[in-house]
Amino acid sequence: SRNVAKDDDGVLTVAGVDVAELAERCGTPVYVVDEDDLRARARAFAEAFAGWEVYYAAKSFLCTAVARWVSEEGLGLDVCTGGELAVAQRAGVDLSRVGLHGNNKSLDELRQGLTAGVGRIIVDSFDEIGRLSALAAELGVRARVMVRVTTGVEAHTHEYIATAHEDQKFGFSIAGGQAARALQACADAASLDLRGIHSHIGSQIFEPDGFEVAARRTLRLHAEHARATGVELPELDLGGGFGIAYTSADTPADPVVLAGALRRIVEAECAAQGVAVPHLSIEPGRAISGPSAFALYRVGTVKQVLLDGGTSRTYVAVDGGMSDNIRTALYAAEYSATLANRRSDAPPALARVVGKHCEGGDILVRDEFLPADVRPGDLVAVPASGAYSRSMASNYNHVPRPPVVAVRDGEVRTLIRRETVEDLLALDVG
Ligand code: LLP
Repeated sequence: SRNVAKDDDGVLTVAGVDVAELAERCGTPVYVVDEDDLRARARAFAEAFAGWEVYYAAKSFLCTAVARWVSEEGLGLDVCTGGELAVAQRAGVDLSRVGLHGNNKSLDELRQGLTAGVGRIIVDSFDEIGRLSALAAELGVRARVMVRVTTGVEAHTHEYIATAHEDQKFGFSIAGGQAARALQACADAASLDLRGIHSHIGSQIFEPDGFEVAARRTLRLHAEHARATGVELPELDLGGGFGIAYTSADTPADPVVLAGALRRIVEAECAAQGVAVPHLSIEPGRAISGPSAFALYRVGTVKQVLLDGGTSRTYVAVDGGMSDNIRTALYAAEYSATLANRRSDAPPALARVVGKHCEGGDILVRDEFLPADVRPGDLVAVPASGAYSRSMASNYNHVPRPPVVAVRDGEVRTLIRRETVEDLLALDVG
């Protein structure tokens, strides 16, 4: 977050809050969201993409407060399960500005979406087109739908989070011809109101070329559909996936630059195809929620491990781990870490920040230089932890999930309370 600083004693402060005091009050591990920073990132997208619709991708991190913040900043919401939709409903956001995703939505989820009056449902299979059109007919409504397509783009990101190459579960293939057939099937269904095409190529992407190719292929399909049916679809969604800086090696694009590039491509391709520019939308998640929060852990044990060649590495074990942030273990994600509770004049030493789980892969930060005197009781902050960490948290080893607190103007407010072992035991009804 941009409101982070270190005071004269080396204590990290965020939005005027001293994190050592915060840790005393809230316990650790704890996820700390800088409200002004998250709102500013949401606003920056809304402003840069003025005239387009910006849907915040809730999967990156969602709670009722965040749903309200982004909606107050002018964004819609992309949800992908009945659970995320329930949060949006409880938050009281405008449901006509909510899009419902998912490659295998249940009948109950589709019904929840239709009765809630979501603005659009993004369909992802022929099974679903049949199911949704029957359900909408039964409920006597016309469901606004977008068709999720696969553009065949090989996004430069981790395999597990690339979603536009052919051999994966999402979307209808453009190259294979299924996308055109899906559009036709939706257009033919009286209970479906086909709004447009949806493309999402993957996540944590830096190079604009993937977005460019996807936009071009999607617009060509849009134009082909117009030529085949005489109808120019009113909308088009280019998805999310804009990368953020986890370490100083990452160089993300500013939303203004992204918006400029995407606008130019869309306008050029529409002109080339002889179609009007449809109403466009995007779905950033990580770029809004990621940088605005950090995780705060307390060090429990410190161990020197000798490496080949006579060097050593300090294993700094903290009170969280892969159950609150699985990204390092799952995607070989890179994070940084910083000593948060004091100044140290000790020389930097190669460290690895690990968790408390019973598993060797339980690594939070693979390589970081921390002061050589890091010791039990110290606090370690892991920046850029707001996206896909707390939202992907598990209860592995029966570890309760950490709370999420918001900081603003020197005040701390709990958004999600800490889970307890009693919460977990309450589920065990056998
Ligand atoms: N729209 C759709 C249809 C998506 O599937 C996603 C992400 C987004 C938007 C938002 O992408 P973003 O702007 O946040 O990159 N757990 C992985 C990321 C999975 C992303 C899934 N879909 C990770 O931790 O990197």
